[in-house]
Amino acid sequence: MSKNPSLEDDEAMPISEVVKRFKRLRLVFEPSLGVLGFFLVGLCLVFSFFYLDYTTVAKTKSHDLSDQSDRFLWLKELDGSVDNSSSSSSRVGFLEESGNSCDVFDGKWVWDESYPLYESKDCVFLDEGFRCTEFGRLDVFYTKWRWQPTHCDLPRFDGKLMLEKLRNKRLVFVGDSIGRNQWESLLCMLSSAIKDKTLVYEVNNRPITKHMGFFVFRFHDYNCTVEYYRAPFLVLQSRPPKGSPEKVKTTLKLETMDWSVDKWKDADILVFNTGHWWNYEKTIRGGCYFQEGAKVKLKMKIDHAYRRAMKTVVKWIQEEMDSSKTQVFFRTFAPVHFRGGDWRTGGTCHMETLPDFGASLVPSETWEHIKLLEDVLSSLYNSNTSETVKLKVLNITAMAAQRNDGHPSLYYLGSAGPAPVNRQDCSHWCLPGVPESWNELLYALFLKHEGFSRSNNGDSNSFT
Ligand SMILES: *[C@@H]1O[C@H](CO)[C@@H](O)[C@H](O)[C@H]1NC(C)=O
Ligand SMILES: *[C@@H]1O[C@H](CO)[C@@H](O)[C@H](O)[C@H]1NC(C)=O
Ligand SMILES: *[C@@H]1O[C@H](CO)[C@@H](O)[C@H](O)[C@H]1NC(C)=O
Ligand SMILES: *[C@@H]1O[C@H](CO)[C@@H](O)[C@H](O)[C@H]1NC(C)=O
Repeated sequence: MSKNPSLEDDEAMPISEVVKRFKRLRLVFEPSLGVLGFFLVGLCLVFSFFYLDYTTVAKTKSHDLSDQSDRFLWLKELDGSVDNSSSSSSRVGFLEESGNSCDVFDGKWVWDESYPLYESKDCVFLDEGFRCTEFGRLDVFYTKWRWQPTHCDLPRFDGKLMLEKLRNKRLVFVGDSIGRNQWESLLCMLSSAIKDKTLVYEVNNRPITKHMGFFVFRFHDYNCTVEYYRAPFLVLQSRPPKGSPEKVKTTLKLETMDWSVDKWKDADILVFNTGHWWNYEKTIRGGCYFQEGAKVKLKMKIDHAYRRAMKTVVKWIQEEMDSSKTQVFFRTFAPVHFRGGDWRTGGTCHMETLPDFGASLVPSETWEHIKLLEDVLSSLYNSNTSETVKLKVLNITAMAAQRNDGHPSLYYLGSAGPAPVNRQDCSHWCLPGVPESWNELLYALFLKHEGFSRSNNGDSNSFT
């Protein structure tokens, strides 16, 4: 036998041998438990080194692999859970008092297997154009991301609870088709909590189509309505004054609210949005000019008009809204993600199946939009009135900017089949998808407010 006995000892020592040796040691070193302890601690140290090293590797990889692959997703998740294995329990709940100062719009998208909150085939309220998966989109990653604020946890959406809080109330969305996108999402989220779907209906029996001016859906058992009013500019678009030049087909009256204002000004919750129509294509190109007072301002720049209109809306909210009755939200601009062009010039977002955490695809005009809104709002905050600001900003621009993967792209025509490749929809959002996260934020802010006013009412009631 030429085997080297010392090698054998090191490499392949059978357990019985270890035990024997250990027994031998035991004879020499008393007491022996100390030795065993040493041995185990050593073992733990070795393993923990191995573990730490492994997680470092995993992290580095996840940063290198910022391309589209399952591996990336998996590592991304590992990254988060390893770094903050206990932080999900250490973050405060937004609804708790300690969550008061939490900025829920500051956060990141995390992969969550429990999403989506509903399936489009189970919700009758969706436009075909938002039902991407039913009309050909193959990937479903886009339905699996949840918004996680950095400094607190959002409450999990509970449709029953929201309906309970909405009892006898009106929740109204006013804005453009991205507002309708969000409204349809909320209808699906809420109706998922209702077994008998015939108890949710449009009060005038109108089917959802793109071109109707407004819809009022009633949740019968809760005597509440969830409504949508189409007002893409929020201010009034109507016929020009007499004697205007031929090219002026309509004007936007920058100092007057949309015609539908009387229908929704008594709502309990209002969610405004605007932005996508404030461009050349949707205004001047179609003969729509801007009007102040009785004057048509043929030379007014679109940005200037937009700013002017925003001031009108904000002023109207401050003057007309009673904040003890109505909660007013303003949802910020939702970015578009046309790559290599525009809607009309062959821009695309097809095959984008993962978020872009750098938001590098967002055009600069998006940030101009939000800057403009911020200016208008900050003038409100800085004014020397003692009045409180009566609107909350649903500041979703930055979070939605990362979701280039959430648009209908080729599938916005629904049953009419996929659209031509050079004509994609990279502005609206597939449902289920990104708009649920806006509604989850709306839900959180709404519940927070309800809790607050309940305790307040309790106080004042005791004096009446
Ligand atoms: C982990 O949590 C800590 C404290 O909660 C935080 O400071 C840190 O930034 C978190 N790390 C990551 C990667 O989220
Ligand atoms: C919206 O959120 C972004 C990113 O968190 C922030 O930079 C911006 O100031 C916020 N805007 C408003 C109006 O709160
Ligand atoms: C239903 O809600 C409306 C307010 O939206 C209220 O005026 C009415 O009294 C409620 N009806 C019942 C039966 O509670
Ligand atoms: C600020 O205060 C001055 C003096 O009291 C007043 O003239 C002015 O109108 C106020 N501005 C606003 C925006 O309320």
